[in-house]
Amino acid sequence: MAESNNFTCSGKLWKFLLFLSVVCIFLLLKFDGQKRKSFRGPEIKNVLYSSEGTEETRGKTSTKPSTKTTITAKETTTTQVAATTEITTLITPSTTPISSEKVTEETKCSPEQYILFLKTHKAGSSTMSNIFFRYGDSRDLSFVLGSDTLIGWPTRFRIGQALAFDGTRPNFLCSHTRFNKKAMNHLFPKDASKYVTIVRNPVKQFESAFNYMEIGRKFGFGTNPTEALKAFLKNGISFNDIRKSTLARNPQMFDLGLDFKFYQDAKAIKEYIEFLEKEFDLVLISDYFDESVVLMKRLLCWELDDVLYAKSNERLDKDKAPELSDDTKENIKRWNKADVLMYEHFNQTLWRRIEREGKDFYDDLTNFRRMKQELKTKCFSDKPSRQLIYGNKYAKGFTLKSDLPSDLQQKCGRMTRTENNYLAYLRNKRAAKLVGIYRAAPNEDDKEKVSWDAASDYKYVPVKKTR
Ligand SMILES: *[C@@H]1O[C@H](CO)[C@@H](O)[C@H](O)[C@H]1NC(C)=O
Repeated sequence: MAESNNFTCSGKLWKFLLFLSVVCIFLLLKFDGQKRKSFRGPEIKNVLYSSEGTEETRGKTSTKPSTKTTITAKETTTTQVAATTEITTLITPSTTPISSEKVTEETKCSPEQYILFLKTHKAGSSTMSNIFFRYGDSRDLSFVLGSDTLIGWPTRFRIGQALAFDGTRPNFLCSHTRFNKKAMNHLFPKDASKYVTIVRNPVKQFESAFNYMEIGRKFGFGTNPTEALKAFLKNGISFNDIRKSTLARNPQMFDLGLDFKFYQDAKAIKEYIEFLEKEFDLVLISDYFDESVVLMKRLLCWELDDVLYAKSNERLDKDKAPELSDDTKENIKRWNKADVLMYEHFNQTLWRRIEREGKDFYDDLTNFRRMKQELKTKCFSDKPSRQLIYGNKYAKGFTLKSDLPSDLQQKCGRMTRTENNYLAYLRNKRAAKLVGIYRAAPNEDDKEKVSWDAASDYKYVPVKKTR
């Protein structure tokens, strides 16, 4: 009798259905209020990490925003789990109070695994990239890679500059690129990725970039770092060709994509900083490195262990920054006004966000520093070492203790691997993965000679001439 379009149901059944509907409506209303506290739809996700986010919008949910882009199997599972949790909650009898455990379950976040890291120069970004390399490699996630250390830099990023993709959405981009909204947003959709960068006190960063890029020598101010810098800052330089002037003024804003023509334009700089504020979910400050990575860990829903680091690409003691006079410092600030304004802005937003994280942020920070120190003591000897970065550039290295158990040897070894070494390894890993894909779907640009005689299964054998 139970056909849905059969209207001969007994009165009892009708009453039962009516009762069931009332109960359902009651439950929906009751839990809607509960849900509002912890569950926010995809539109909230956009401002989840932005400074305008209210206390509520920063609530972490496990719900992934809907996106047109392909999602991995892993993600699908997370979404399904989240959906199941919700259904369970909805059918819980109303008399059972919601346990605090259940709410925590629902508000638990899931780790972010689509991250664009805009790698700035001389701001601790190699150490950051190393964190992303380790995280992604150990989970077999994919990276946007270039054929070189740089991906198109100093030109603005274009997708064609990267090595071909494997058909899935890339998880990380953390090589040197110059910010380019359109291409980057395409590859890393804003509503389903996190944008992270790191900046540094412009006085220190400029001095470091000036030194590293040998800007003084390039512009004919000699090779003594302190004297060249002083002479350079006496009048500054007039705009030269792009290649030469690239990091000679506002080097951080250059990487972040500000056009040269706006370097002296107050309104444009202000607007560009507002634009960056919208584009980036998190701007880290190199001068507060531990605070920065702990904040990142919390916002990406990672573990403290994931953000442990050993400083990469640090100058040798003999190349240490010279003491700068107050005048030189002031001139660096005046010459790099756009960088100064940008830095001041994001230094403030960093501390505001740390404040909003509450007291347990500092528990994390204390734990983190302890873990870092422990690992350092376990893994590295005090013997200083130097590491060839590229060409003739050396940086401080770490000496791994010789008798380490294999897990520590691996963990600490990866931490001290140079960027170029990591990139070469990741390129090989990618190539190995692509072999099958390329066999099935050859690249149309492949130059290799092709001939249909390569295989002989279907070698042409015409019909024997019989008539
Ligand atoms: C960054 O901001 C903090 C907090 O406002 C301030 O104490 C600190 O001096 C700032 N750092 C720099 C280098 O400007």
